[in-house]
Amino acid sequence: MSGQRVAVIPGDGIGTEVIASARAVIDAVSTRHGIEFGYTEFDWSCERYTRTGTMMPDDGIDTLRDFDAILLGAVGWPGVPDHVSLWGLLIPIRRAFRQYVNLRPIRTFEGVASPLRSAENVDFVVVRENVEGEYSEIGGRLNRGFPDEMTVQESVFTRAGVSRIADFALELAETRRGYVTSATKSNGIIHTLPFWDEVVAERAALHPDVRIDSEHIDALAAKFVLQPERFDVVVGSNLFGDILSDLAAAVAGSIGIAPSANLDPTRQYPSMFEPVHGSAPDIAGRNIANPVGAVWSAAMMLDHLGHPAAAADVMEAIAVTLADPDTRTADLGGGADTTEVTAALVRQLS
Ligand code: NAI
Ligand code: MG
Repeated sequence: MSGQRVAVIPGDGIGTEVIASARAVIDAVSTRHGIEFGYTEFDWSCERYTRTGTMMPDDGIDTLRDFDAILLGAVGWPGVPDHVSLWGLLIPIRRAFRQYVNLRPIRTFEGVASPLRSAENVDFVVVRENVEGEYSEIGGRLNRGFPDEMTVQESVFTRAGVSRIADFALELAETRRGYVTSATKSNGIIHTLPFWDEVVAERAALHPDVRIDSEHIDALAAKFVLQPERFDVVVGSNLFGDILSDLAAAVAGSIGIAPSANLDPTRQYPSMFEPVHGSAPDIAGRNIANPVGAVWSAAMMLDHLGHPAAAADVMEAIAVTLADPDTRTADLGGGADTTEVTAALVRQLS
């Protein structure tokens, strides 16, 4: 098979529906641009877990290693604890492949109402540190069940880890509006976050063309709601980035359209692209899921694999499709089902 190789993991619930849609859209834009991808599909999911006892085979990580990218729907299903699906598939992939950047673009579209009265021209990216920080396994719990029961969990911030995420944010800002906001709380968390601030400032000094602000996370959360249009690139630790990216997606209007990328910017390992939403058991199997989050994630994959013109075409098709109530899904007040939105996107790209 010539061309780049993509591992496709549709997963559970609407994951399978939105990935089918994303595949159709990539096929259309690939034909237009003469791009050739080789796909391999994997049935790794909660359904597989129920059948075999594992989310993916023991050699799953090795199987993925030689692909150029991974496209994932969503995993999770009632009856399988969420920590099983998360720690049995997603987190091992992110960690084994050093996907230290979690990238979540947020923008407003005509046709997608924000819960905020005046959110317009919002266009920013949250860059979340994805492998260290507050999500560490270092810690423990003592004296279970006794009055002196206690627990400790250590946050881990390394010079290498903070430097590379800051560098990624600064370089991304250079391709955009040249403005980075760094999320901190160095007034209250007195060891790790002053260190974060110091290292971010050192890296920023190497990019005099980028303007940088440091904002405490509480005030920053308020500004996301009050002035979302002022942001360009927002960089934060694993926990701060997680919370800010969900807040930002809500400001933009719908979880159904929000995309994400887990990137290894060194390109030693495959990066993984997935919509922000989960498997949505409440609407699964009804052909009503919004496919735009998965399609936008696929556009990020095209961009990462060196096809920016194809990615831009997909974004244009998304904007046109969202603007028309006849080609929007019900979560956005539209009258179309998943198949109809997919067909509209494919039509735009043919
Ligand atoms: P969810 O994102 O699946 O659903 C939340 C709500 O948003 C539901 O009412 C759902 O119908 C709606 N929704 C989500 N995506 C939509 C779309 N594309 N179009 C229209 N409506 C949409 O989150 P929930 O319910 O908390 O989790 C369900 C399962 O998904 C759980 O097992 C959870 O662990 C898993 N999950 C997996 C993720 C992943 O694979 N990365 C991420 C988030 C949740
Ligand atoms: Mg989250």
